[in-house]
Amino acid sequence: MKLIFATSNRSKISEIRARIDGKLEITDLAENGINEDIPEPFFTFEENAMHKARYVYNKLGISCFADDSGLEVAALNGEPGVFSARYAQKNDFSGSNTELVLHRLGQLANPSRAARFVTVIALILNGKEHFFRGSVEGNIIEAPKGNSGFGYDPIFVPEGWSETFAEVDQKKKIAISHRSRAMNNLVDFLTLDGKL
Ligand code: IMP
Repeated sequence: MKLIFATSNRSKISEIRARIDGKLEITDLAENGINEDIPEPFFTFEENAMHKARYVYNKLGISCFADDSGLEVAALNGEPGVFSARYAQKNDFSGSNTELVLHRLGQLANPSRAARFVTVIALILNGKEHFFRGSVEGNIIEAPKGNSGFGYDPIFVPEGWSETFAEVDQKKKIAISHRSRAMNNLVDFLTLDGKL
């Protein structure tokens, strides 16, 4: 069986391939002749992920899945959320996305620092739609720490840890990350469904 992962991100493709261990053929957008960036215009991770999956399914008629992720900060009413990739740009802020989160929290009196990373995967399998979610709870620290990872990793300390996601070996992050948890839920479903 062949499944398309509607992404152009090589590290996401390698991660899911490692989990599926060759039991399914997983190909990415470019390998299926899709070279454009599929827009993510909606206000929920579910809608954005399903929009990308439907785009591919309607075009090629092949079972596929897509993901959407982001950081939700409780004291910022869930922002940056679906705007995580372009938070600073969307708010005309001259610094980075991470700096904007710290700046916004700095404007509040004694804010909660609670936050979570979320990934939603939307799967269309033989025309039927399914969702899988993964999240990791943690806290936003006062100033960035660490150089590995990407995005908001330097300001996020997962619950029970003393280091940020950017201070640890990436294998340690992957073991508990929102993306891994969503992928595990997808793999469990495919296994139960007899596809793996
Ligand atoms: P995507 O949907 O996986 O492309 O993620 C959207 C945005 O969320 C990224 O551009 C990052 O800003 C943020 N993000 C998602 N996952 C992570 C993560 O594991 N670490 C840090 N930032 C992340």
